[in-house]
Amino acid sequence: MKIKITQTDQSRISSVDFDNLQFGRTFSDHMLEVVFKDGAWQQPEIKPYGPISFEPSLHALHYGQAVFEGMKAYYSSDDTINLFRLDDHLERINNSARRMSMPELSKDLFFSGLEELIKLDYKWVPKTHGHALYIRPFMFASEEYIAAKSASEYSFYIISSPVAAYYSEGFKPVKLTTSQNYVRAVKGGTGEAKAAGNYGGSFLPAKKAQKIGFTQVLWLDAIEHKYIEEVGTMNIFFLIGDTLITPQLSGTVLPGITRRSVIAIAKSWGVNVEERRISIDELFEAQKSGDLKEIFGAGTAAVISPVGMIDHKGEQITLDQNEIGPFAQKMFETVTGIQYGKLDDSYGWTHPVNVGNEVSV
Ligand code: COI
Repeated sequence: MKIKITQTDQSRISSVDFDNLQFGRTFSDHMLEVVFKDGAWQQPEIKPYGPISFEPSLHALHYGQAVFEGMKAYYSSDDTINLFRLDDHLERINNSARRMSMPELSKDLFFSGLEELIKLDYKWVPKTHGHALYIRPFMFASEEYIAAKSASEYSFYIISSPVAAYYSEGFKPVKLTTSQNYVRAVKGGTGEAKAAGNYGGSFLPAKKAQKIGFTQVLWLDAIEHKYIEEVGTMNIFFLIGDTLITPQLSGTVLPGITRRSVIAIAKSWGVNVEERRISIDELFEAQKSGDLKEIFGAGTAAVISPVGMIDHKGEQITLDQNEIGPFAQKMFETVTGIQYGKLDDSYGWTHPVNVGNEVSV
């Protein structure tokens, strides 16, 4: 696909403090922009990152037809930058788009857009292991029209941001609490889509949780308030005895790509993995019996994040770990080892982008 490219003549990279990156605050020099109208995606363009202007009647602002992805580009050990599981991200954004009655993206547009952006902005990919260039592809209804029905015009953008750890705790264990008053998703709703509104709706409960000392909410199912679903910012895993358990994808849980990778890697180690319903009571029982070994979250932004405490109705599960547990540590090293090209990628997950000989190691 031919993408029109207009390069910036004023890179902002020299003003970036790569040793003190805050998640999602700094954006690289370029962005991709493409508009869907008259039933087709128009000419894609890469241009300097900057403001976009719309009328107040912008459809997405009123009705929330907006979906996104979270991906990362990793600095590899040679003159390549690795992207990760591109096919899966494309499949997921298209699933989200379908659910939100939005147009799908072609493989050519998605892949070429990402590759060309990385070739232009590769210097923005942090070199520290554990840091990465977070990539945010997103699509929204950009018709200037406030009728409450699917729009006929959409815009798709890709922007990127150099990042370190997602949580302010870094890789220290985070604290989660269940919510008795709010739910994240119901079957048949939009919970398994990466739709903007799913996140917006979770901010009030998250803010309340943070006010009383927790990092995030651990969402329970909306019907029985009993079965564990996800954290909103990441999927969740429990090591109970020798079995790795994660809530099944039942239509209310985001099908995480790091989640999928963790399951595949654990299985390759010979670990018994169960994707099934797991209740909060089962978790308390596993702790009581001493079988609960580790809890960790998995997500693109969060990578592998240890969980040190879960609060449920004032009772706590605390894991005797102020550090990441050995299983989560090994998983972190394996996932990131593949992503950064340090470990053999027998899965074919990495998508290397050659950026010439200018990247020195
Ligand atoms: C991601 O992990 O990429 C996400 O989109 C989660 C978001 C809360 C940062």
